Amino acid sequence: MSKTIIDKRPALFEKTDCNIWTDPYIGLQMLKMHLNPDFDGASRQQESVRKTVDFILKYIKPTGGLLDLGCGPGLYTSIFKDRGYEVTGVDFNKASIRYAVERRHDIKYILGDYIQEYPQGKYDAIIMIYCDMGTHSDDDRDKLLKNIYSSLNDGGVLIFDVFTERIVCDKQETKNWEYAPSGGFWDENEYLLLSQTFHYPENKAFAYQYNLLTDNESKHFIVWDRYYAEKEITDILKDTGFRQVAIHKNILSDNNFTSNNEMFIVAGK
Ligand SMILES: C[S@@+](CC[C@H](N)C(=O)[O-])C[C@H]1O[C@@H](n2cnc3c(N)ncnc32)[C@H](O)[C@@H]1O
Repeated sequence: MSKTIIDKRPALFEKTDCNIWTDPYIGLQMLKMHLNPDFDGASRQQESVRKTVDFILKYIKPTGGLLDLGCGPGLYTSIFKDRGYEVTGVDFNKASIRYAVERRHDIKYILGDYIQEYPQGKYDAIIMIYCDMGTHSDDDRDKLLKNIYSSLNDGGVLIFDVFTERIVCDKQETKNWEYAPSGGFWDENEYLLLSQTFHYPENKAFAYQYNLLTDNESKHFIVWDRYYAEKEITDILKDTGFRQVAIHKNILSDNNFTSNNEMFIVAGK
């Protein structure tokens, strides 16, 4: 099999065939990270999960249907089910959904891509936690927000978090490499990983580009991180039709994996 290294600056919101969440081996490593209660990789650490749930409960109806977009292995869905909500979780990481389904039969889990095939049904609350909104292109975000809005009952709320502009203080354009002679996070066998970070300040986005080289193949991944000014995200939500939009900051304590500069948004229909 031929090996290629892609060294150029990606076009804005360029997509790759390989995806860190749907790659079978990496998806499994992601699941392990989700399940580490003391680490902020893939899911926030346990204390932050608890604080986030307490925050969300203040803004949603005491009962009803709740949809978790990008639910991972169900850290949040399980808590909301225990609080009496009718819970649906969707995620395209097979390993996470398999784990979630095995653990809870009383929660509806969907293995799928919520951008391509948005889940049917009507909900009183829709949540999307850990800055996942920012991983999508502006076009995909707008498509998703329209679907979210249509699937909310009147009086329903969307709650999600995104990085603020202060993330630029934590991140810079870099190049890095990692050699793993006996395998590691990215592959079970020996690999070389070449990583690059690109900043697109005029579009408020970072791209993380990874070239993964193993003995017999190369894989190319790009992960996007879109950050927002408060007014920008508020205007986007109002343009979608949301009547009330409130921004909340300083909900969580320090993060040991990524930037601490997130804001939570509560948007009411
Ligand atoms: C950063 S993790 C957060 C998981 C979960 N919300 C949490 O905080 O524990 C992002 C999750 O979104 C999922 N995801 C990303 N894009 C998706 C898409 N288009 N459709 C379905 N799931 C997606 C990933 O597989 C991953 O489980």
